[in-house]
Amino acid sequence: NWSMESFIEIEVEKIQQQVGDRKVLCALSGGVDSSVVAALIHRAIGDQLTCIFVDHGLLRKGEADQVMETFSEGFHMNVIKVDAQERFLSKLKGVADPEKKRKIIGNEFIYVFDDEADKLKDMDFLAQGTLYTDIIESGTETAQTIKSHHNVGGLPEDMQFELIEPLDTLFKDEVRALGTELGLPDDIVWRQPFPGPGLAIRVLGEVTEEKLAIVRESDAVLRDEVKKSGLERDIWQYFTVLPDFRSVGVMGDARTYDYTIGIRAVTSIDGMTSDWARIPYDVLERISTRIVNEVDHVNRIVYDVTSKPPATIEWE
Ligand code: XMP
Repeated sequence: NWSMESFIEIEVEKIQQQVGDRKVLCALSGGVDSSVVAALIHRAIGDQLTCIFVDHGLLRKGEADQVMETFSEGFHMNVIKVDAQERFLSKLKGVADPEKKRKIIGNEFIYVFDDEADKLKDMDFLAQGTLYTDIIESGTETAQTIKSHHNVGGLPEDMQFELIEPLDTLFKDEVRALGTELGLPDDIVWRQPFPGPGLAIRVLGEVTEEKLAIVRESDAVLRDEVKKSGLERDIWQYFTVLPDFRSVGVMGDARTYDYTIGIRAVTSIDGMTSDWARIPYDVLERISTRIVNEVDHVNRIVYDVTSKPPATIEWE
């Protein structure tokens, strides 16, 4: 890809000029934008880049390991992984309100990042995966905040860093092409959108370790079956949710009283509106059978057939 090659060449030189022999910090989430930023800056300045990856315990199955394998082992980047699962879980204990959950997670993310950044005293720059569309969108006020979104872009405003935002002229498809050119694996480059608060907003109501495990395991089965069916790139987002109720079922001769898993799969252009994905019945059947068989405490599967609006993509 000629245009991406020359983009890389030009940006690498710009970053080298700007940074000189100083140091850059980057918040790595495993999402497309922060991954591509890290890879690009690493190409330019190597070991002068340090990444902080906060594992809040709300990631999907295997995701934290994949981030470390790709960046720490694959790219030989300096990545500091912060295991903050307990910190987040204890803050979320007893909290059922979706907006409160989001606020707690957003704030805690900043505290954890801050604590780590403080330990690395000599950082001069903060790299961010701001895209062209982020800049346009933040310039327009939406009439009403439906959900308080947070992602790793939302870092403390009083941090004493100069910003580096090398993707701020690019659209998402260009960022993906850049990521591929930089040698990032497809699993990262084509990763579906994943909310900052992670699985915490897919466990409806109070978040517990047991419920997180149910949603994480069922989501892994769903992802596996979607991948096997070849539908991966046709569906914008697909995931499971765990509503906060149980229902009666039967297993062998015994009555069960267990959780329901909801499957959400949508097609969309930009996440602003969406339609439910017409996943073939036989694929849905395999997903349903496998989740009930493989995930403890689940005895019922439902498929969400609402568009956005009136529903949102996530259930919280
Ligand atoms: P909704 O549920 O509002 O979601 O239809 C639209 C898109 O945004 C994602 N989403 C988030 N992304 N932080 C994020 O970075 C968040 O707090 C958040 N909440 C929702 C959602 O997954 C979908 O792609």
